[in-house]
Amino acid sequence: MMVRFMDWGMKNRLSRIIKPSTGRSLVLPIDHGYFQGPTRRLENPWRTVKPLLPYLDALMLTRGILRSSIDPQIEAPIILRVSGGTSIIGPALSDEAITTSVVEALRLNASAVAFSIYVGTEHEHQTLTSLAHLVDECEDYGIPVLAVTAVGRELEKREARYLALSCRIAAELGARFVKTYYCEGFEKVVEGCPVPVLIAGGPKMDTELEALETAYNAIQAGAVGVVMGRNIWQSDHPVAMIRAVRAVVHEGATPKEAHDLFTSLKTGEP
Ligand code: 5RP
Repeated sequence: MMVRFMDWGMKNRLSRIIKPSTGRSLVLPIDHGYFQGPTRRLENPWRTVKPLLPYLDALMLTRGILRSSIDPQIEAPIILRVSGGTSIIGPALSDEAITTSVVEALRLNASAVAFSIYVGTEHEHQTLTSLAHLVDECEDYGIPVLAVTAVGRELEKREARYLALSCRIAAELGARFVKTYYCEGFEKVVEGCPVPVLIAGGPKMDTELEALETAYNAIQAGAVGVVMGRNIWQSDHPVAMIRAVRAVVHEGATPKEAHDLFTSLKTGEP
Protein backbone atom coordinates (compact mmCIF):
# COMPACT_ATOMS: atom_id res chain seq x y z
CA MET A 1 0.00 0.00 0.00
CA MET A 2 1.34 3.44 -0.87
CA VAL A 3 1.83 5.64 2.19
CA ARG A 4 0.37 9.12 1.83
CA PHE A 5 3.44 11.18 2.74
CA MET A 6 2.86 14.28 0.69
CA ASP A 7 0.36 16.27 2.71
CA TRP A 8 2.93 19.07 2.95
CA GLY A 9 3.08 19.22 -0.83
CA MET A 10 -0.70 19.38 -1.11
CA LYS A 11 -0.85 22.27 1.37
CA ASN A 12 2.05 24.06 -0.26
CA ARG A 13 0.54 23.80 -3.74
CA LEU A 14 -2.85 25.02 -2.55
CA SER A 15 -1.28 27.94 -0.69
CA ARG A 16 0.42 29.05 -3.89
CA ILE A 17 -3.05 29.45 -5.42
CA ILE A 18 -5.24 30.54 -2.49
CA LYS A 19 -3.03 33.16 -0.90
CA PRO A 20 -2.62 32.69 2.88
CA SER A 21 -2.34 36.48 3.41
CA THR A 22 -6.01 37.01 2.47
CA GLY A 23 -7.37 33.49 2.08
CA ARG A 24 -8.43 34.51 -1.43
CA SER A 25 -7.44 33.90 -5.02
CA LEU A 26 -7.67 35.52 -8.43
CA VAL A 27 -7.15 32.87 -11.08
CA LEU A 28 -6.92 33.86 -14.74
CA PRO A 29 -8.26 31.07 -16.98
CA ILE A 30 -7.10 30.94 -20.59
CA ASP A 31 -8.16 27.34 -21.27
CA HIS A 32 -11.19 28.22 -23.39
CA GLY A 33 -9.55 27.02 -26.61
CA TYR A 34 -9.70 23.39 -25.49
CA PHE A 35 -13.23 23.22 -26.85
CA GLN A 36 -13.86 26.68 -28.38
CA GLY A 37 -10.75 27.02 -30.54
CA PRO A 38 -9.22 30.50 -30.91
CA THR A 39 -11.54 32.45 -28.64
CA ARG A 40 -11.79 36.22 -29.23
CA ARG A 41 -8.82 38.04 -27.67
CA LEU A 42 -7.12 34.73 -26.86
CA GLU A 43 -5.91 34.13 -30.40
CA ASN A 44 -2.35 34.80 -29.21
CA PRO A 45 -2.33 33.67 -25.56
CA TRP A 46 1.04 35.17 -24.58
CA ARG A 47 0.10 38.58 -25.93
CA THR A 48 -3.07 38.44 -23.83
CA VAL A 49 -1.47 37.11 -20.65
CA LYS A 50 1.86 38.90 -20.43
CA PRO A 51 0.58 42.30 -19.21
CA LEU A 52 -1.75 40.60 -16.72
CA LEU A 53 0.88 38.42 -15.02
CA PRO A 54 1.74 40.83 -12.18
CA TYR A 55 -1.88 40.85 -11.01
CA LEU A 56 -2.96 37.20 -11.04
CA ASP A 57 -2.51 34.50 -8.41
CA ALA A 58 -2.63 31.52 -10.78
CA LEU A 59 -3.01 30.76 -14.47
CA MET A 60 -5.39 28.04 -15.69
CA LEU A 61 -4.69 26.49 -19.08
CA THR A 62 -3.98 23.33 -21.07
CA ARG A 63 -0.59 21.74 -21.51
CA GLY A 64 -0.50 22.64 -25.21
CA ILE A 65 -0.82 26.37 -24.60
CA LEU A 66 1.48 26.19 -21.58
CA ARG A 67 4.28 24.59 -23.62
CA SER A 68 3.80 26.55 -26.82
CA SER A 69 2.95 30.00 -25.54
CA ILE A 70 3.93 30.64 -21.93
CA ASP A 71 7.40 31.66 -20.74
CA PRO A 72 8.61 28.93 -18.35
CA GLN A 73 10.19 31.59 -16.16
CA ILE A 74 6.86 33.01 -14.99
CA GLU A 75 6.27 32.96 -11.25
CA ALA A 76 2.52 32.29 -11.33
CA PRO A 77 1.45 28.80 -10.29
CA ILE A 78 -0.26 26.71 -12.94
CA ILE A 79 -3.68 25.05 -12.76
CA LEU A 80 -3.50 22.54 -15.56
CA ARG A 81 -6.74 21.67 -17.33
CA VAL A 82 -6.69 17.90 -17.73
CA SER A 83 -10.18 17.26 -19.13
CA GLY A 84 -11.50 17.70 -22.65
CA GLY A 85 -12.07 15.75 -25.83
CA THR A 86 -15.07 17.74 -27.08
CA SER A 87 -15.68 20.78 -29.30
CA ILE A 88 -18.39 23.40 -29.69
CA ILE A 89 -19.42 21.82 -33.00
CA GLY A 90 -19.50 18.27 -31.65
CA PRO A 91 -22.58 16.39 -30.42
CA ALA A 92 -22.17 16.83 -26.63
CA LEU A 93 -19.92 19.17 -24.65
CA SER A 94 -20.47 16.96 -21.63
CA ASP A 95 -18.64 13.99 -23.22
CA GLU A 96 -15.31 14.89 -21.57
CA ALA A 97 -12.55 12.56 -20.42
CA ILE A 98 -9.11 12.85 -18.85
CA THR A 99 -6.78 14.29 -21.51
CA THR A 100 -3.53 14.72 -19.58
CA SER A 101 -1.75 12.36 -17.20
CA VAL A 102 -0.71 13.13 -13.65
CA VAL A 103 2.92 12.47 -14.62
CA GLU A 104 2.58 15.18 -17.28
CA ALA A 105 1.12 17.53 -14.65
CA LEU A 106 4.16 16.85 -12.44
CA ARG A 107 6.54 17.31 -15.39
CA LEU A 108 4.95 20.71 -16.05
CA ASN A 109 5.21 21.63 -12.36
CA ALA A 110 1.46 22.18 -12.08
CA SER A 111 0.22 23.39 -8.72
CA ALA A 112 -3.23 21.87 -9.37
CA VAL A 113 -5.21 20.14 -12.08
CA ALA A 114 -8.72 21.07 -13.24
CA PHE A 115 -11.39 18.63 -14.36
CA SER A 116 -14.96 19.34 -15.50
CA ILE A 117 -17.98 17.42 -14.26
CA TYR A 118 -21.39 17.48 -15.94
CA VAL A 119 -23.98 16.60 -13.32
CA GLY A 120 -27.43 15.72 -14.68
CA THR A 121 -26.24 15.01 -18.22
CA GLU A 122 -25.90 11.74 -20.13
CA HIS A 123 -22.19 11.88 -19.22
CA GLU A 124 -22.66 12.42 -15.51
CA HIS A 125 -21.37 8.97 -14.54
CA GLN A 126 -18.37 9.15 -16.85
CA THR A 127 -17.25 12.57 -15.65
CA LEU A 128 -17.86 11.84 -11.97
CA THR A 129 -16.02 8.53 -11.93
CA SER A 130 -13.17 10.10 -13.91
CA LEU A 131 -12.97 12.87 -11.31
CA ALA A 132 -12.76 10.27 -8.54
CA HIS A 133 -10.06 8.36 -10.44
CA LEU A 134 -8.09 11.57 -10.99
CA VAL A 135 -8.35 12.42 -7.28
CA ASP A 136 -7.01 8.96 -6.39
CA GLU A 137 -3.95 9.51 -8.56
CA CYS A 138 -3.38 13.14 -7.60
CA GLU A 139 -3.62 12.49 -3.86
CA ASP A 140 -0.64 10.12 -4.15
CA TYR A 141 1.47 13.03 -5.40
CA GLY A 142 0.01 15.87 -3.37
CA ILE A 143 -1.65 17.59 -6.32
CA PRO A 144 -4.94 19.33 -5.56
CA VAL A 145 -7.81 18.69 -7.97
CA LEU A 146 -10.05 21.61 -8.91
CA ALA A 147 -13.48 20.35 -9.98
CA VAL A 148 -15.26 22.55 -12.50
CA THR A 149 -19.04 22.29 -12.34
CA ALA A 150 -19.62 22.74 -16.06
CA VAL A 151 -22.96 23.51 -17.67
CA GLY A 152 -21.97 23.43 -21.34
CA ARG A 153 -24.46 25.35 -23.45
CA GLU A 154 -27.14 25.13 -20.78
CA LEU A 155 -26.37 28.43 -19.07
CA GLU A 156 -29.83 28.42 -17.42
CA LYS A 157 -28.56 25.64 -15.13
CA ARG A 158 -26.66 28.30 -13.19
CA GLU A 159 -29.01 28.35 -10.20
CA ALA A 160 -28.45 27.54 -6.54
CA ARG A 161 -30.06 24.11 -6.31
CA TYR A 162 -28.19 22.68 -9.26
CA LEU A 163 -24.87 24.31 -8.42
CA ALA A 164 -25.10 23.27 -4.76
CA LEU A 165 -25.72 19.70 -5.89
CA SER A 166 -22.78 19.73 -8.30
CA CYS A 167 -20.34 21.39 -5.87
CA ARG A 168 -21.22 19.01 -3.06
CA ILE A 169 -20.81 15.96 -5.27
CA ALA A 170 -17.43 17.28 -6.43
CA ALA A 171 -16.30 17.71 -2.82
CA GLU A 172 -17.65 14.29 -1.82
CA LEU A 173 -15.57 12.71 -4.60
CA GLY A 174 -12.44 14.38 -3.23
CA ALA A 175 -11.94 17.63 -5.13
CA ARG A 176 -9.77 19.91 -2.98
CA PHE A 177 -11.49 23.02 -4.37
CA VAL A 178 -14.35 23.74 -6.72
CA LYS A 179 -15.07 26.23 -9.48
CA THR A 180 -18.70 27.02 -10.13
CA TYR A 181 -20.91 29.94 -11.16
CA TYR A 182 -22.32 32.78 -9.09
CA CYS A 183 -26.10 32.68 -8.73
CA GLU A 184 -28.89 34.07 -6.60
CA GLY A 185 -28.78 32.35 -3.20
CA PHE A 186 -25.07 31.58 -3.63
CA GLU A 187 -24.68 31.28 0.17
CA LYS A 188 -26.46 27.92 -0.09
CA VAL A 189 -23.91 26.70 -2.62
CA VAL A 190 -21.00 27.65 -0.32
CA GLU A 191 -22.73 26.37 2.80
CA GLY A 192 -23.20 22.91 1.32
CA CYS A 193 -19.66 22.61 0.02
CA PRO A 194 -16.94 21.73 2.56
CA VAL A 195 -14.03 22.80 0.31
CA PRO A 196 -13.19 26.30 -1.01
CA VAL A 197 -15.42 27.57 -3.80
CA LEU A 198 -14.40 29.96 -6.57
CA ILE A 199 -16.62 31.39 -9.26
CA ALA A 200 -16.13 31.56 -13.02
CA GLY A 201 -16.96 34.83 -14.71
CA GLY A 202 -18.93 33.30 -17.59
CA PRO A 203 -19.48 35.05 -20.92
CA LYS A 204 -18.44 38.72 -21.18
CA MET A 205 -21.02 40.91 -19.47
CA ASP A 206 -22.24 44.19 -20.93
CA THR A 207 -20.24 46.31 -18.50
CA GLU A 208 -17.20 45.96 -16.25
CA LEU A 209 -19.33 47.10 -13.33
CA GLU A 210 -21.58 44.03 -13.67
CA ALA A 211 -18.57 41.70 -13.54
CA LEU A 212 -17.18 43.53 -10.50
CA GLU A 213 -20.57 43.27 -8.79
CA THR A 214 -20.66 39.53 -9.49
CA ALA A 215 -17.18 39.05 -8.01
CA TYR A 216 -18.09 41.17 -4.99
CA ASN A 217 -21.37 39.35 -4.35
CA ALA A 218 -19.67 35.98 -4.63
CA ILE A 219 -16.96 36.95 -2.14
CA GLN A 220 -19.56 38.38 0.24
CA ALA A 221 -21.45 35.08 0.04
CA GLY A 222 -18.35 33.07 0.94
CA ALA A 223 -16.43 32.38 -2.28
CA VAL A 224 -12.67 32.40 -1.79
CA GLY A 225 -12.09 33.94 -5.17
CA VAL A 226 -12.71 34.08 -8.87
CA VAL A 227 -11.54 32.19 -11.93
CA MET A 228 -12.39 35.03 -14.27
CA GLY A 229 -11.35 35.02 -17.89
CA ARG A 230 -13.50 36.65 -20.57
CA ASN A 231 -14.67 39.49 -18.33
CA ILE A 232 -11.01 40.39 -17.87
CA TRP A 233 -9.22 39.70 -21.14
CA GLN A 234 -12.15 40.55 -23.41
CA SER A 235 -12.41 43.96 -21.73
CA ASP A 236 -11.03 46.81 -23.81
CA HIS A 237 -8.89 47.59 -20.77
CA PRO A 238 -7.75 44.22 -19.40
CA VAL A 239 -5.02 45.51 -17.08
CA ALA A 240 -7.34 48.05 -15.48
CA MET A 241 -9.99 45.33 -15.18
CA ILE A 242 -7.78 42.70 -13.55
CA ARG A 243 -6.54 45.29 -11.08
CA ALA A 244 -10.12 46.25 -10.25
CA VAL A 245 -11.09 42.58 -9.77
CA ARG A 246 -8.00 42.15 -7.59
CA ALA A 247 -9.14 45.03 -5.39
CA VAL A 248 -12.48 43.26 -4.85
CA VAL A 249 -10.93 39.84 -4.21
CA HIS A 250 -7.98 40.79 -2.02
CA GLU A 251 -8.70 44.25 -0.65
CA GLY A 252 -12.42 44.14 0.07
CA ALA A 253 -13.21 46.93 -2.40
CA THR A 254 -16.88 47.54 -3.13
CA PRO A 255 -18.01 47.35 -6.78
CA LYS A 256 -18.11 51.16 -6.89
CA GLU A 257 -14.61 51.53 -5.43
CA ALA A 258 -13.29 48.91 -7.84
CA HIS A 259 -15.05 50.52 -10.77
CA ASP A 260 -13.63 53.92 -9.85
CA LEU A 261 -10.20 52.28 -9.84
CA PHE A 262 -10.93 50.73 -13.25
CA THR A 263 -11.96 54.11 -14.64
CA SER A 264 -8.87 55.87 -13.31
CA LEU A 265 -6.50 53.14 -14.55
CA LYS A 266 -7.99 52.66 -18.01
CA THR A 267 -7.05 56.16 -19.06
CA GLY A 268 -3.38 55.18 -18.69
CA GLU A 269 -3.73 52.01 -20.82
CA PRO A 270 -2.82 51.84 -24.50
C1 5RP B 1 -13.97 26.71 -19.55
C2 5RP B 1 -13.55 27.10 -18.21
C3 5RP B 1 -13.11 28.48 -17.98
O1 5RP B 1 -11.90 28.39 -17.31
C4 5RP B 1 -14.15 29.18 -17.17
O2 5RP B 1 -15.35 29.25 -17.87
C5 5RP B 1 -13.73 30.53 -16.61
O3 5RP B 1 -13.62 31.45 -17.59
P1 5RP B 1 -14.70 32.59 -17.81
O4 5RP B 1 -14.55 33.55 -16.66
O5 5RP B 1 -14.31 33.19 -19.13
O6 5RP B 1 -16.06 31.93 -17.81
O7 5RP B 1 -13.56 26.32 -17.29
O8 5RP B 1 -14.71 25.57 -19.44
